[in-house]
Amino acid sequence: MTVHTQQVAIELGDRGYQIAIGDDLFDNPASYATLPGASTALIVSNTTVAPLYVSRLKQALEAGYERILELQLPDGEEFKTWESLQKVFDALLSAGCDRKTVLFALGGGVVGDMTGFAAATYMRGVPFVQVPTTLLAQVDSSVGGKTAINHPLGKNMIGAFYQPRLVVCDLSVLSTLPKREFSSGLAEVIKYGPIADTEFLGWLEVSMDQLLAQAPEALAHAVRRSCEIKAWVVGQDEKETGLRAILNFGHTFGHAIETGMGYGVWLHGEGVGAGMVMAAELSHRLGLVDAAFVKRLTRLIERAGLPTKGPVLDAQDNAGRYLELMRLDKKSEAGEIRFVVIDGPGRAAVRPAPDMLVRQVIDACCA
Ligand code: NAD
Ligand code: GLY
Repeated sequence: MTVHTQQVAIELGDRGYQIAIGDDLFDNPASYATLPGASTALIVSNTTVAPLYVSRLKQALEAGYERILELQLPDGEEFKTWESLQKVFDALLSAGCDRKTVLFALGGGVVGDMTGFAAATYMRGVPFVQVPTTLLAQVDSSVGGKTAINHPLGKNMIGAFYQPRLVVCDLSVLSTLPKREFSSGLAEVIKYGPIADTEFLGWLEVSMDQLLAQAPEALAHAVRRSCEIKAWVVGQDEKETGLRAILNFGHTFGHAIETGMGYGVWLHGEGVGAGMVMAAELSHRLGLVDAAFVKRLTRLIERAGLPTKGPVLDAQDNAGRYLELMRLDKKSEAGEIRFVVIDGPGRAAVRPAPDMLVRQVIDACCA
């Protein structure tokens, strides 16, 4: 079944761009017709995604570029590093790529974040296009211009805000995505409900089975609504001076899980899934939401195939380890952790919380 192509605009003046959503897009030359002219394109992908999709993307780009180069990075969160980034610069410099060269990120959030960072810094900035191939990347990481690599001490600690010229979300590529990765993406879809849109939260409850079955219309709606909400937030606060932090609901706990377990052991969305339960529980213990809300959100996260309990990171002092890791969160100010909490239907806020309360939440929410 073909889904009618839809466009969502990111309104950022001369850095604004379109997100195209449909199921006949990534290998269609028309999708790229608005891009600036250049002699060379570099497609950055990884060893899993490239064999599936790179030749079709290459073909679609042939009309627009004299040279189309390819680079396959190793696959995995543990390779979101300086070493991988260096491989992108090596490829660009050894091929004599100029500052008009267009980078195409073909892959999930790891490839997208790294390619974006490379584009932000190569010759002080070259154009790049996101062609996200995971659900998570289509609903979140490819949109909004956050680019980064990890540091052994913390997730996404080195990076830049740098907007793509275009995002091409082709739903058909999700059919090859492993089930666990699809569920990971659902975590980022779910987060938009509690922080911004209770109607969407209700829709997700009704539609979760269809989404898990990748029913085309349900999938298209989930991706479009997620992108619309993200576009609305990013359009108001591109560089996260305030509002944009709400997109990190569940991420303060989730990033601690990813770092504490070792990159790649828990998927990003799995950390966010358990992290949202913890953040909802914290909101409840702060008197902001009732217990029924925590139960409702936990049930939805569970139905999406995601963990609802965090892992034990330290057998001696688990809460202490979470707190230590969370103090490194980018939202922390002078060592004080700031949490995204739900403070009303479809409304989020960012605030500190007493360590004692956070410890209680972690004790209650880890297995
Ligand atoms: P990922 O990029 O590691 O992709 C997940 C796995 O799926 C990989 O093994 C990948 O090779 C494989 N894959 C990708 N597309 C496929 C397809 N169509 N068919 C089969 N296999 C496919 O992980 P992800 O979940 O896409 O992204 C997670 C990353 O995104 C994290 O590093 C996270 O920090 C980052 N992130 C960034 C933002 C942002 O705003 N920039 C937002 C959320 C998450
Ligand atoms: N994924 C969080 C953000 O883009 O701000």
